[in-house]
Amino acid sequence: MRSNETSKAEGEKITNNKNTKMTTKKNKKYERLYNQIKELLPKGNTTISAMSTITAILYHKIDYFFWCGFYMLEDGKLNVGPYQGPVACQELEKDKGVCWAGINQAETIVVPDVEAFPGHIACDSRSKSEIVIPLFDQNGNVFGVLDVDSKDLGSFDETDAKWLEKIVSLLIN
Ligand code: SME
Repeated sequence: MRSNETSKAEGEKITNNKNTKMTTKKNKKYERLYNQIKELLPKGNTTISAMSTITAILYHKIDYFFWCGFYMLEDGKLNVGPYQGPVACQELEKDKGVCWAGINQAETIVVPDVEAFPGHIACDSRSKSEIVIPLFDQNGNVFGVLDVDSKDLGSFDETDAKWLEKIVSLLIN
């Protein structure tokens, strides 16, 4: 191996180690928050209390969460629910944007660059990346989404998806 190839391989190894460390740190942080939320949620929780607590904890404890909240399906409309962050759109135009994609596809959507997502609805132009997690009731029907925005590109990955899915699963008793 020539020396420049060696240094490239070394560089990749350092980057991989750094990424692994960051993922471990992120997992630990989410685990702490998950346990805290689980402790705090009222027993026999009314969903609105639980949703408010979830948004407060996540928004105030994770530094890249610029907006964090719920959109709820009500009579075929997607209306904003409990949230933290700048004032949000009250109702999202049907079948448009990331939240409706989460509802219609019934799966988590990670958007590294909101401008590259067709139909993205910009409630605040400072949002650059986004993650949407669908909420399922006991019958497996989608009844809303958890939506999180970041002011940076590419803030969300599979670690965020895994833990946020676990956190919203606490909404169902
Ligand atoms: N960007 C979302 C709209 C909600 S805000 O991000 C708070 C969307 O495209 O559905």
